[in-house]
Amino acid sequence: MKYTEKELNAFGLASESIPRHVAIIMDGNGRWAKARGQMRSAGHRAGVDALRDIIRFSSDSGVEALTVYAFSTENKKRPPEEIGVLCGLLIEYFKKEIDELDENRVRIKSIGDLSWFPENVQAAVLNAEARTAENEGLKLNIALNYGSQAEIVRAVKYAAAVARKENREPEKEDFEAGLYTAGLPPVDLLIRTSGEERISNFLLYQLAYAELYFTDVYWPDFTKEEYIKALTAFAKRSRRFGGLTAK
Ligand code: FPP
Repeated sequence: MKYTEKELNAFGLASESIPRHVAIIMDGNGRWAKARGQMRSAGHRAGVDALRDIIRFSSDSGVEALTVYAFSTENKKRPPEEIGVLCGLLIEYFKKEIDELDENRVRIKSIGDLSWFPENVQAAVLNAEARTAENEGLKLNIALNYGSQAEIVRAVKYAAAVARKENREPEKEDFEAGLYTAGLPPVDLLIRTSGEERISNFLLYQLAYAELYFTDVYWPDFTKEEYIKALTAFAKRSRRFGGLTAK
């Protein structure tokens, strides 16, 4: 259910300063678990719970697109057991959450090279995408085996091929049409949890003018209240896009 302006105001927010596109690097699941003497898998599981609330709040507060980094190309270097846990969680996630996501009109899309994943993971993701493809609510992008440099190379090739076919020079628009995020607004706000302050090969092109928000909180502890803090900080930033006037 969408919040009214009054409800947003009660959180200290206003619809005019809600970012159109939020991207999140969900970091710190492992350290969250370690701090509790638990297995890393428990951290990832708690991470999924945190994500559920953030998707819901994004949807209710009028964020247009949310892109989350669930599995980077570099994550493939992790031990097979941990990769297995993450794959299992993905399958479980799409099975358990799909009804609610669909009811809330969320459109799910994976970004990255899905072909690397086992068949059952691919099937779960493709099924979720197909079932929600016509939804007109929050556009939820889940980055899976995603790396921004590879995405850029792919988009350059796409732009070159399109232009060659039409016997002309490739343009910015051709390149952007070749990105996984084609058709979405650029990222307004990037959030990274767990105290790390890096971009880590995430949406390098799309982040060009994004406001960056870093917090020490580990991802499983990134609650709705923490999200509101990030959105409040975003609302206070003066965005000039290289010009002189604020907003
Ligand atoms: C970073 O924590 C997190 C990840 C590599 C995976 C993020 C995955 C989830 C939140 C759950 C799976 C997602 C879905 C959509 C089902 P880390 O393991 O790097 O933590 P650390 O840096 O403390 O070790």
